[in-house]
Amino acid sequence: MINPALLNKFITVSERAAYGASKYIGKNDKKSADQAAVDEMRSELNKIEMNGKVVIGEGEMDEAPMLFIGEKIGTGTGDDLEIAVDPLEGTNFVAKNLPNAISVLSVANKGSILSAPDTYMEKIAVGSGLPPNLIDLDNSVEKNIKLLADAKNKKIHQITACILKRPRHDKIISILNSLNVKINFIQDGDVTGVISVVDKNSPIDIYLGVGGGPEGVLAASALACLGGQMQTRLVLNNQNEINRAKKLGINDLSKKYNIEDMVSGDVIFCATGVTDGEMLKGIKDRGDSFEASSYVLHKNLKVSKKITNLIKK
Ligand code: FBP
Repeated sequence: MINPALLNKFITVSERAAYGASKYIGKNDKKSADQAAVDEMRSELNKIEMNGKVVIGEGEMDEAPMLFIGEKIGTGTGDDLEIAVDPLEGTNFVAKNLPNAISVLSVANKGSILSAPDTYMEKIAVGSGLPPNLIDLDNSVEKNIKLLADAKNKKIHQITACILKRPRHDKIISILNSLNVKINFIQDGDVTGVISVVDKNSPIDIYLGVGGGPEGVLAASALACLGGQMQTRLVLNNQNEINRAKKLGINDLSKKYNIEDMVSGDVIFCATGVTDGEMLKGIKDRGDSFEASSYVLHKNLKVSKKITNLIKK
């Protein structure tokens, strides 16, 4: 089990990152917003007593950005942990002052998190309490929707699907339309999109489509704690992407990953709101302090809570 005493420290990491990004809300500068979140996140992670390694980060080693995949973080003494980070998920949301930007990370023991390249990934996810292995990326969209409707004892037109608004999804969207499935489009931010399938307050029954690989692993970390189902597969469009996947140790390039193939064993997941959103409130400036709202999960301790902290700047 991951040392429970570290939980609060990881919450501080996502809180600080969110605060960093919040300084750029509405400034039309997504690069600076992201950089501010990265700087804060890295500096807080390095205070934690652990022998940490970034397995999902801001890029690959050759590019050597901060928080690159393979970077050692933490004090270098303590438990061997792997960290997946997205210091700012929804860079456009911050730049344009739109809802749903978050700072997010997950933590697991050494050898437990899939180091996915920053390529696209097919994703499908449904909530908890359903028959095991209900949905499959190799099923048609129609078949997955029908299986889900039957399992939930709903009519097909009562199913709501969440999907990123992108031209690459036009075919899926026309199938969903022909089935009369309700669609909840998101402009960005598919970590939150996937998590919405397990949120009791959300109408979303299924998430489907292609988004970022790193974001897929982060969403899987949350579902590992919350009990949903998810299946993914990397989309590798050219030799360069294939090489990058292989460099990260991925040999079966068309493997379908279930949650436990992406994140196994104990997991900590922390997400803090940057701008107000459906899942979390954004950062609120309170003078000398700021208020941060976070979603905190610790699988083995069965922790699942939303908290708001007032933190000195
Ligand atoms: P950024 O925060 O890095 O801009 O990513 C936002 C995001 O919407 C992710 O949530 C999603 O996985 C990915 O971008 C989709 O990529 P694309 O915009 O290329 O379709």
